[in-house]
Amino acid sequence: MKYEALTFTIGDLPGISSKTIENHLGLYEGYVKHVNLIHEKVAAFSHDLENNAFAIAEMQRRLGFEFCGMRNHEYYFAQLEGGPKALPEGALRDKIESQFGSVDAWLESFKLITKTRGVGWVMLYHDPHTDQLAQTWVDEQHLGQLADLDIILALDMWEHSYMMDYPSGEKGLYVDAFFANLNWEVVASRMT
Ligand SMILES: [Fe+2]
Repeated sequence: MKYEALTFTIGDLPGISSKTIENHLGLYEGYVKHVNLIHEKVAAFSHDLENNAFAIAEMQRRLGFEFCGMRNHEYYFAQLEGGPKALPEGALRDKIESQFGSVDAWLESFKLITKTRGVGWVMLYHDPHTDQLAQTWVDEQHLGQLADLDIILALDMWEHSYMMDYPSGEKGLYVDAFFANLNWEVVASRMT
């Protein structure tokens, strides 16, 4: 089992510097590397279960962090490819409007979650079991991910996403820049 880092073509993003994106892509590649490393090390350590059981268990505990760190960033960077695009008519817009009243009302509720203290993500999901949208804060990369829901929109709120561009007290400016650069066509295409 081996994962390859994806490549993303991201142009100039007003409000998010190319230095931030370049550094951030490097961090993403680190997650991919560590997912692969865990799989390799677990396989290698498994030849001596008696001595390595504890180490294997700790690596398994670590896998969710590294794997979600890999996958979350793939959703994040794909949304910033292709330049800003408005939310098109279709299933996602219909669902947002029926569930939240309007796109603006939804955005207000989503931005409230970005104010959560700590490092993590704000996620908008579609629940295929109930055909409803759900959104939450995810600590780190994995703690609080909602099981078996499809990620629709992933907003990285780790400080590495904005600290070179904004002081920590002004992370709201980063959130505004993210939405100004968001390719909603990519986001909307995730509603299957
Ligand atoms: Fe990140």
